[in-house]
Amino acid sequence: MITDLEHTARALVARGKGILAADETVGTLTKRFDALGISSTPEKRRDYRELLITAPSAAEFLSGVIMHDETIRQQSADGSPLASVCRRLGILPGIKVDLGAKPLAGSPTEKVTEGLDGLRERLKEYRDLGARFAKWRAVIAVSRVFPGEACVSANAHALARYAALCQEQDIVPIVEPEVLMDGTHTIERCEEVTGRVLQAVFAALFEQGVPLEGMVLKPNMVVAAAASEQQTSVEEVATTTLHCLRRHVPPAVPGIAFLSGGQNDVLATRHLNAINRAEGPKPWALTFSYGRALQDTALATWAGKRENVAAAGQQLSHRARCNSLAALGTYTEAEEKQVHIEALAGIAGGWDDD
Ligand code: 13P
Repeated sequence: MITDLEHTARALVARGKGILAADETVGTLTKRFDALGISSTPEKRRDYRELLITAPSAAEFLSGVIMHDETIRQQSADGSPLASVCRRLGILPGIKVDLGAKPLAGSPTEKVTEGLDGLRERLKEYRDLGARFAKWRAVIAVSRVFPGEACVSANAHALARYAALCQEQDIVPIVEPEVLMDGTHTIERCEEVTGRVLQAVFAALFEQGVPLEGMVLKPNMVVAAAASEQQTSVEEVATTTLHCLRRHVPPAVPGIAFLSGGQNDVLATRHLNAINRAEGPKPWALTFSYGRALQDTALATWAGKRENVAAAGQQLSHRARCNSLAALGTYTEAEEKQVHIEALAGIAGGWDDD
């Protein structure tokens, strides 16, 4: 028998669909707004999130949207709760429930994610507000000496406790252990650390009795660090990522939805496409749960102005469609350009109407 949790987990990674991460904290979104001269008020943040959720055809490519606490309590311009707007469109509402990565005692340059205290009660409230899945992000920095064992095990333990609490409340946990791209490390070092972290996370999930069929994994791709002198090909990222995942992620997990982690948007799409095209067994759906790689162009296009809402929505749809194709392994440069032209045609239409 398929449980509701399994049903929801499978829906999140349904064929050709992925997740929009739009759960930036007020602080993070304010930084992004500041860079573009947009004033960060609750209304402006609401307008922006509504623009993303209601982008034309986005629901064709998006299974779910991860919201921040502020957003799930907000209403759209017509007075409907944003979670209801999602559901009406056929998009599952999700919620970020961790309370941020804080310095790890004993090794304060490393981080441990907090938020377990009172989580059961918060999950009950979020479920009442419409959330059907949740996200918790652990952050693992890489250097020659990091991550230490304490950082890996503390974060794995917290992820597993969070996942068990989510499932208890009929909420699908997205389990996100992010090995950061910051630094100069090689792809080999990223694979070694990512493998170690995934191994610890699945051991902790097993220990906490979390049925893997009712969760989604959100890992980093295995890449060289942003400042590494040894950058690799798209194909090498795909084969190394799959090599690592096959070794450490049980096939009972229905889907893996990658974070973008600071990759530029087109490269994140190309990587996902190459992963889906690569040879060899892939027992899980492989899709996207991008934040920046879906939003960056849309946010810059919007720039906080009402007259740019249609154009920004087109940009979001464009990237969501490209990533949907990549999740099927059918994305091409021609599709990127063709969709781009369609998007521009849409933008021109929007301007003509004003
Ligand atoms: P990025 O895709 O921008 O890394 O964000 C995904 C996310 O949800 C980070 O927690």
